Amino acid sequence: MEGAEQGNSEVFSRREYSRPDFWNDRFRESPHAFDWYVTWKELRKFLLILAHPEDCPSVLMVGCGSSTLSADMGKVGYDVTNIDISDVALGQMGERTGQEGVQMDAAKCAFRDGSFDLVLDKGTFDALACAEGSQLPDLIVSEMGRLARNTVIIITHGRPELRQARFESSLAASGPWRCRALKCELSPMSQFINIMRSKYPDRSIASIFRDKEALATAVKAMAEYTEHKTVGEEAGEKRQTHCWVYLFLRPSRPQAGTEAK
Ligand SMILES: C[S@@+](CC[C@H](N)C(=O)[O-])C[C@H]1O[C@@H](n2cnc3c(N)ncnc32)[C@H](O)[C@@H]1O
Repeated sequence: MEGAEQGNSEVFSRREYSRPDFWNDRFRESPHAFDWYVTWKELRKFLLILAHPEDCPSVLMVGCGSSTLSADMGKVGYDVTNIDISDVALGQMGERTGQEGVQMDAAKCAFRDGSFDLVLDKGTFDALACAEGSQLPDLIVSEMGRLARNTVIIITHGRPELRQARFESSLAASGPWRCRALKCELSPMSQFINIMRSKYPDRSIASIFRDKEALATAVKAMAEYTEHKTVGEEAGEKRQTHCWVYLFLRPSRPQAGTEAK
């Protein structure tokens, strides 16, 4: 979420993101499934070309949270292992989808080098990068490189000029890697959350939902975006409508996107 590192929301600018208790409380408060940025629907065109289940059958999902992505990837043939620091998130995912997960700090995983074909993170790096100066998100990316046999994917709101060199430097110990950064439009839900944040930067999402007038304004902006792809720049609004899919491949893996399936 664009606001996360800009400190413009009461929800998304917290050092607490690195505390397991913070996440446990959050998942207890909102026990439903929720996906940061994108879902399988937006990602499938990328993943089925860049990391097809035939090339990348085993997947480590880093910081799975309450995302639906693991279950949807399981349905098309990936064998997904979920890890998260929050036992509450893992318990809820088990009840919701039947998928098991392991409680683990993604910066110090108890798996051998190269245990998974694909290691994927969506949103965990960004959440932890909210704490300025913290090494934790970089340690997680290094660990992703160590565990990946051939492919690392990081899904983030960070544009290449902000993120690519940082990821490359964290992955260098397990490299070399070839990098591609691809733009992906946010899911309608994330788009709507970003609209609420950019229109009401000092308010929580819950309070906007309680305020009929504010909610109607956000719904109107969402309808305009859906129809015309406008973001209200004329009103001084700045918001990001896309996230980035960073693909890192070991040179020994054939160039993704060129293999015929
Ligand atoms: C922003 S959420 C992203 C959730 C999910 N990947 C998604 O796309 O919706 C970040 C997730 O990372 C987990 N997390 C935070 N710190 C972690 C750590 N050190 N190791 C593993 N998971 C962590 C949190 O519990 C939370 O589920």
